[in-house]
Amino acid sequence: MKFATELIHGGDPIDPQHGSVSHPIYHTSTFAQQSMDHFGRYDYARSGNPTREALEEAVAGLEKGATGLAFASGMAAIASTILLFAPGDHLVVCEDVYGGTFRLLSTLFKGWGLEATFVDATDTAALAAAIRPETRALYLETPSNPLIKITDLSAAVALAAEHGILTIVDNTFMTPYLQRPLELGCDIVLHSGTKFLNGHSDVICGFAVARDPELGKRLRFIQNAFGAVLGPQDCWLVLRGLKTLKVRMEEHQASAQKIALWLKEQKQVERVYYPGLPEHPGYEVHKRQSSGPGAVLSFELADFALTTRLLEGVELAAFAVSLGGVESILSYPAKMSHAAMPPAEREARGIKDTLVRLSVGLEDPDDLIADMARFLDI
Ligand SMILES: Cc1ncc(COP(=O)(O)O)c(C=O)c1O
Repeated sequence: MKFATELIHGGDPIDPQHGSVSHPIYHTSTFAQQSMDHFGRYDYARSGNPTREALEEAVAGLEKGATGLAFASGMAAIASTILLFAPGDHLVVCEDVYGGTFRLLSTLFKGWGLEATFVDATDTAALAAAIRPETRALYLETPSNPLIKITDLSAAVALAAEHGILTIVDNTFMTPYLQRPLELGCDIVLHSGTKFLNGHSDVICGFAVARDPELGKRLRFIQNAFGAVLGPQDCWLVLRGLKTLKVRMEEHQASAQKIALWLKEQKQVERVYYPGLPEHPGYEVHKRQSSGPGAVLSFELADFALTTRLLEGVELAAFAVSLGGVESILSYPAKMSHAAMPPAEREARGIKDTLVRLSVGLEDPDDLIADMARFLDI
C-alpha cells in the first residue's frame, strides 16, 4: 500500500462485528473472562485495549516498525524508552534536544545514575568522540528544536553499529510521511503525537516504535509496568487525525516554504532556519534522508523589542507552546520549549532571546504573511 492508502486502511480494520468504518472506542478498564482456563485476548486495559491497539498498529505500520506503543504524552513515551537503560549507563544526546527531554535526562535520570552527554549531533566526529564504553545509545532529533539542525541519520547508524549501541530518533517534526528513521537503520522512533500525528491541538499523546520485535517486547513490558498508557478516547481522536496526515503535511509545508522565502527578504529578520532553504547547512543531508522540509521554521529578529511586538501582536498565529496543529503557532523557545534549560546552556546552544519559532498551520499563507508584515515589513 502507498502511504496515503495506508493512512486510511492500515492497522485500522473495519469492525468485524458490526462493520463500523470508524474504529469503536472501547471505554473499559477490564475485560470479563470466559472461564478459569480460557482467558481472552484482553484482560486489563493498561496491558491492552483494542482502540489503543488499532492506533499502535497504525503508527507502527507508518513508521515501518515491528511494534508501536501509545503513551499518555510524548514525555511518557520518551521516559518509558529511557527505562530500557540502567544506572551506570550513558547516552549521547543531540545538544538542542527538546527542553523537556533535557530536563528529564539532566534531573530525574541523572539522579537515578544514568549519564548523558549533550553534543552537536550535526558533527558525526563529535558524536563519536562522546561515546564511552558504558554508552548504550545515541539519542537524536532531526530537524532539531528550535535551531532546525540536521543530523545525518545514516552516519549516526553506522557509528552506533560500530559500537553496538542503539540509535533513537525523536521524529516529531517530520512524521513518518516525510521521514522514516527505522528504514535508515535506526532502532527506535519516538513522537510527541500531540503535534502533527494528531494534528488538531486537542490531544496530548506520545509514541515509541521499535524496528525489531525483541526490542518492541522490552518496550511493551515497560509500557505495562510503568503504566503511562493513552486512554481510548484520545486514541480514537488520534486515529481520526492520522487519516489526513498526508494532506495536512503537504499543505503545511507548501505554506512553510512560501513563508520562509518571504521571511528571508525582510530587513528585520536576521536569519531564517528552515531545511527547505538551499543555504541551510543541512539542506543536502536533509534532502537525502527525508522527502520534505516540514512545517516548522525558526527565525531571529533584529532586536528584543520587535520580538515582543511580533509575538504579542500577531493575530492569526496563536502565541503559544506546541506545534503541528491546523492553526499556526508562534512560540518563544527561550521561555517556552526551552524554559527548562538554564539560560547559560541556552546561550551556549545559540538559542537567543530574539529567536521565534513558527509552526505553519493550514491558514492561507498570504494571510499569515500579511499578518506578520504589519511588524516586519517596516
Ligand atoms: C520534539 C519534541 N519531543 C517531545 C515533546 C514532548 O511531547 P509531549 O508534550 O507530548 O509530552 C515535544 C513537545 O513539545 C517536542 O516538541
